[in-house]
Order: sequence, then C-alpha cells, then structure tokens
Amino acid sequence: MDHEPSPLYISRGEGAYLIDVDGNRLLDLNNNFTTLIHGHGFLPVADAVADLLHRGTCFSNPTEHEITLAELLIERIPAIEHIRFVNSGTEAVMFAIKAARAFTCRPGIARIEGAYHGAYDWAETGQAVSPAIWNDPLRSPAVPAYRGMPPSVGEEVTVIRFNDVEDLERRIASAAPSLACILIDPMPSRAGLIAPEPSFLAAVGAIARRYGILVVADEVLNLRQSYMGASARYGLQPDLVAAGKIIGGGFPVGAIGGREEVMRVFASDSGKPLLPQGGTFSANPVSMVAGRVAMEAMTETAFASLESLGDRIRAGLRREIERCGAAFSVTGAASLFRIHPRGKEPTDFREAYLDPEETELMARLSRHFLACGILLPNGAAACLSTAMTKADGDAVISAFADFLSTLEANPTEAGI
Ligand SMILES: Cc1ncc(COP(=O)(O)O)c(C=O)c1O
Repeated sequence: MDHEPSPLYISRGEGAYLIDVDGNRLLDLNNNFTTLIHGHGFLPVADAVADLLHRGTCFSNPTEHEITLAELLIERIPAIEHIRFVNSGTEAVMFAIKAARAFTCRPGIARIEGAYHGAYDWAETGQAVSPAIWNDPLRSPAVPAYRGMPPSVGEEVTVIRFNDVEDLERRIASAAPSLACILIDPMPSRAGLIAPEPSFLAAVGAIARRYGILVVADEVLNLRQSYMGASARYGLQPDLVAAGKIIGGGFPVGAIGGREEVMRVFASDSGKPLLPQGGTFSANPVSMVAGRVAMEAMTETAFASLESLGDRIRAGLRREIERCGAAFSVTGAASLFRIHPRGKEPTDFREAYLDPEETELMARLSRHFLACGILLPNGAAACLSTAMTKADGDAVISAFADFLSTLEANPTEAGI
C-alpha cells in the first residue's frame, strides 16, 4: 500500500507505471489522486512545458495561455460560460462557495454526507461522519473535520444524504432561507464512488430553483468522466462548477466556472467586485499550457477508449466476484472504479462505510495488489490513464481474481 508500513518513495514515472526507489515497477492506479489522465511523463506536455521554462513561468500580468485553456473548457463544458483559474481544487471549491454567497447574499451551504471537497472549512464539515453520529439523533451530521474548528462553521452547513430525495427535501426546506448553495459532486469518490440516481439529481436542481439556492458541482475529480464533464453526463445543471486535477496536465490547478450572471460577482469592470479573488500563482503559464495540451489530447475518442478500458476492468472484476461467489461489489464509471467488500453494491455513503474489519480487509487487498505490482488506492477511487493498455487492465483483473482465491483459502489471514 502507498502508506504502510512506510510510504513508498518514488524515483520516477513512466507512462502507466511508477518506479520506486528500490527499483520496483508498479502499475499506477492512483495517478496522483486521479490527476494524470495521460499517466507519467506525457511527452506533449513535457515538450510544451520545457519550451516555456526558458520564457518565464509566472507573471503578474495575464497571458494568452489562460485564454486558450479557458476557451477549451468553455467550449466543452455546457455549464461554464465564464471561468477563472486558481491553484488547487480546494481553492476552486472555496471560491465557488464564496461566489454563491456573494450572489445570493446568504452564508450557508448544503453538502453531501461523507463527500470530500478539499480543505475549506465549510466544504469539509460533514465529511467525517460515522455510525456513532448517524445513530444518535441528538448529534448533527455537520461534524467538524478537525479539532478546534469554529463551531459556528457547523451551524452554516446542512448535510444531506446522497440519492435520498426525502432527506434532501426535508433538510433543504428547513435551512433554505440561509442557504447559498448545494455543493455536490455527481459521483462522490470518498463517499463510495456511487452512481447518482437521476431522480436525485433532478430533485437537487428543482429544490435549488424553488428556494433560490445555487447548485455548485464539484467536478475537481469527476471532470474526467466525459468530454463534457460529469454534470453533463448525469443531467445535473449547475450554476457553478469547480474543476481541477486533469485540467492542469500534472501541474497545480483549479478553476471556478459557471453562468455568466453568477460569475459577474468576480467582475471589477464597474468598480470593486462583489467578491475579490486572486492568487500569486493563479493562471500561471505552466499550469495553463500543460492543462491545455493534456486536455487537447483528451478528444471525444480518447474519452471513449478510456471508458471502454474502464468497462472492461469493471466487468472483469464483477465476473471474478460472481465466479467466486465473493461478498464484493464494484462501483464507478468511465475511467474510475472502486471495489467494496459488500455483496450488494452500496447506494450511499452509509452503505459504503467500512467497519474496522472491512477496513483491514481492504488494506489487505491493497497489499495484495502491491505484491502483484499494482498500486491500488485504498479508500478512494482507482483511476486509469490513456497510457494503460488492455494488458494492464487484465493484470488488474487477474490480481483481484488471485486475491479472491487466496481469501477463499485463508479467510482470516491478515498477513498478505
Ligand atoms: C471532489 C474533490 N474536490 C476537491 C478536491 C481538492 O482538490 P485539491 O487537492 O487540488 O485541493 C479534491 C481532491 O482530491 C476532490 O477529489
């Protein structure tokens, strides 16, 4: 596993593979937390960035590079009419929330239980929910993410359950007058990488419109789900989108995009903006050029072939589960998948939540993959890159098949 008993130190990356400092070659299913959609050392990005290094890597002035990446994203992603760049997904989510507040003049947000949205206090409240909290009617699921978090943050966060229209309606109705936005990742990875029910996403849109609340789609991770991103894929119509990861081509990046009317909160053409926004390295040419080159290579055909590799792997994993009659299931879509130690596919965070025994079983699975030369993220989405081949996909399936057979032979053996 990448963290235990000590972190794996990496010496270099080569396409779909990592080489650690001991010379082990590992198929990388992490891809820097889903960022590297072309794997490591993608030549078009390396060449474009190398060229830039001699001509200046950051300026206080705008450059044409941010315009070309902005145009590409606006052209592809239906919900994005205007866009601004920052340096991380955390910042993108933070400014999307602030933009929703500035537009609605309300402080609160609603967000999905267990979902991960980066490290802005309001965005991370409600991510660390556990059975001790949800089984106690006196405790709010708006749990602080860290010791010492101001309690007032929790008072401004409404936590809703994924795919539960009744819970959504009830909780939004009671907090509506103070809510600026509903923050939602269409397939929250840490909350289980579970497919959204179309009726749930439709209800999110309808209830937001009813109460004048904005919908903020966090596509920092899931923009990789299609040429047009995740919201378009699943029929969500957000007012604002937070993006990141793949749009930086392997360099730090984030972006806030959305409806022109809402994005005007950032505009300074008629004096002081409603929401001032800036950052020393925001829209730096390196991230902009790397992102544009990486995204240009992600044509509709490239997305389709990545998805078919994903389909092949998910189908292969499910076939092995069925063959062994094992209590596992697989979720995910496009270039993402996640294995659950559950016979029935989870439909929300609570169903995907792992008790200590299941947590150890999944750690054992990651250790087994590592022994087979595959880096499988534990507790998060596994992801593919265009550098991977069908043979790489088959290696993933066979490592899993092997694990299931070992498990059958040694159900309690934790030492793998
Ligand atoms: C859905 C989602 N939102 C926000 C973030 C935060 O992005 P960053 O790590 O670039 O700050 C992440 C990072 O994994 C993410 O998966």
